[in-house]
Amino acid sequence: MCGIVGAVAQRDVIGILLEGLKRLEYRGYDSAGLAVINQKTAHINSVRAVGKVKELVDKVAADPVHGKTGIAHTRWATHGVPSERNAHPHMSGADFALVHNGIIENHEELRRNLIADGYEFLSDTDTEVVVHMLHQECTKNQLDTLAAVRNIVPRLHGAYGLCVIRRSEPEKIVVARSGSPLVIGVGIGENFIASDPLALGQVTDRFIYLEEGDVAEISLDSIRIFSGDTAVERQTTRIKSEIEEIEKGEYGHFMLKEIYEQAKAIKNTLSGRISEKHVLEEAFGIKAKAIFDKVTNVQIVACGTSFHAGLITKYWLENIAKMPCQVDIASDYRYRNIIVQPGSLFVTISQSGETADTLAALRYASESGYVGRLAICNVATSSLVRESDFSLLTIAGREIGVASTKAFTTQLTALLLLALVLGRRNGMSNADEEQYVKDLHRLPDLVNQVLKQDKAIQKLSISLADKHHALFLGRGIQYPVAKEGALKLKEISYIHAEAYPAGELKHGPLALVDDKMPVIAVAPNDELLGKLKGNLAEVSARGGKLFVIADESAGFDDEGDYQLIRIPPVPDVLAPILYTIPLQLLSYHVAILKGTDVDHPRNLAKSVTVE
Ligand code: M6R
Repeated sequence: MCGIVGAVAQRDVIGILLEGLKRLEYRGYDSAGLAVINQKTAHINSVRAVGKVKELVDKVAADPVHGKTGIAHTRWATHGVPSERNAHPHMSGADFALVHNGIIENHEELRRNLIADGYEFLSDTDTEVVVHMLHQECTKNQLDTLAAVRNIVPRLHGAYGLCVIRRSEPEKIVVARSGSPLVIGVGIGENFIASDPLALGQVTDRFIYLEEGDVAEISLDSIRIFSGDTAVERQTTRIKSEIEEIEKGEYGHFMLKEIYEQAKAIKNTLSGRISEKHVLEEAFGIKAKAIFDKVTNVQIVACGTSFHAGLITKYWLENIAKMPCQVDIASDYRYRNIIVQPGSLFVTISQSGETADTLAALRYASESGYVGRLAICNVATSSLVRESDFSLLTIAGREIGVASTKAFTTQLTALLLLALVLGRRNGMSNADEEQYVKDLHRLPDLVNQVLKQDKAIQKLSISLADKHHALFLGRGIQYPVAKEGALKLKEISYIHAEAYPAGELKHGPLALVDDKMPVIAVAPNDELLGKLKGNLAEVSARGGKLFVIADESAGFDDEGDYQLIRIPPVPDVLAPILYTIPLQLLSYHVAILKGTDVDHPRNLAKSVTVE
């Protein structure tokens, strides 16, 4: 959601902070701010701006501030509207400045107490209580900032990654992590902090991931980390710079670049995980075999697009592995009285690995008797991966566009590998496995063939751009594909879109269909095509504007009462992956025609690290 970056150095850190914020902007982007300690005047100077980081950059350029210790933040509003007064950093008098990711759930009670003690609040945020609590703790008990932070964190309920600077300790940043990621960037004679190592790629490649409950003090040449009362050492990891990946290159938007990267991302995700004829179970790690030996059914939990990947996997597990599978939305699952079947494998799916609801579901599942917890995730160092028993990483590379594209198709690729591994253990024949693996080898090339329809899809998007609503239809395994198409369209073009299993039309949604309603159908030539055609006839009969995605064997021709997106014939098992791509392109082009901010759609953030 929000992004944090901080630096303590022997040089002016303004450039480092602003560059870090630009790199984090994909996470949250309604306001931004920074605070630096000017060592000469012993003052904290703060600058905040509403809107994108560019607004802050312009403000700093117009009225420069300088300092060798500083913190910065890009915000995605939770408490209080996007405004300058609600932008971080928040100050307590002139002494402390603080930035925070996450939510302080008991902020109202804390605020009441602080007001009773004479503190004046200048924002509507939950964050501001923390900076005043620190001020109070330091002054009342004559403590340094590290000791004060360690004392107050047990009183904060909720999730936080927080960083604080104090003008009387001008060469220190104190940070705390609970439920919101923070990583220390290790330099030489300077150190850094960020919510994501991406923010610090320009200054270091050495990182220390803080763990849940850690509090740390970062100064020029020392890093002290505490877990409760104990001083701890945390491992330093080297991560190569991802600067190239975060350039848009020849593409107008990250989303389009990421759509086009899918063949490569899928190839990378398959690399080393399949041989010519088999899926290599070892790819799931050394713990996998013992866990897979016990698995008789699967529980999948995820959010958003990742949830759609889970829905598709249910069909694969039933069809290929002959295994029961339940799929739940994480925000719902985490509050249910779940009943765990014996032999149940718990699988989370997440691009970021930091989605608050998915992490909470994983933690809940950890006490619930699953035979193992598997994470399908795009970030090796994420909390989800670190807290699971084992993982299969998607190798999509950094996904910047808020609308998930290559993360989704690589998740599906990884999940198909899971279905095949479980299928082999549950009686799938060698011949079937060989055929599936042969199909997988063709997948990157098929992706590129589907992408060739881009121009045709762009042309067709003109008919959708002025619409206010859209229906997406699919049957069977294509229903979740339709759901993903609807999510993409609403997310970036702000057109209201809903997906239905086509057989459900006549039970209600058909009432919506008239000559203003576009209906987009995913229609591969599978065993349900005949049924789907019947449903589409119901739409045409009511004047609905049909858009059909199909290959030539499906019997739709250019003369019909619909607009056709033709894709090449593809193996049934790969159809969910390949039929998603035209839907991604369609929503992209509609959004372009509507002039929305494709990579940063309103009200959304890339990684939802709050509940
Ligand atoms: O990082 P995750 O995969 O856990 O994120 C889950 C959702 O927030 C995410 O897929 C969201 O729905 C996307 N913006 C959709 O494009």
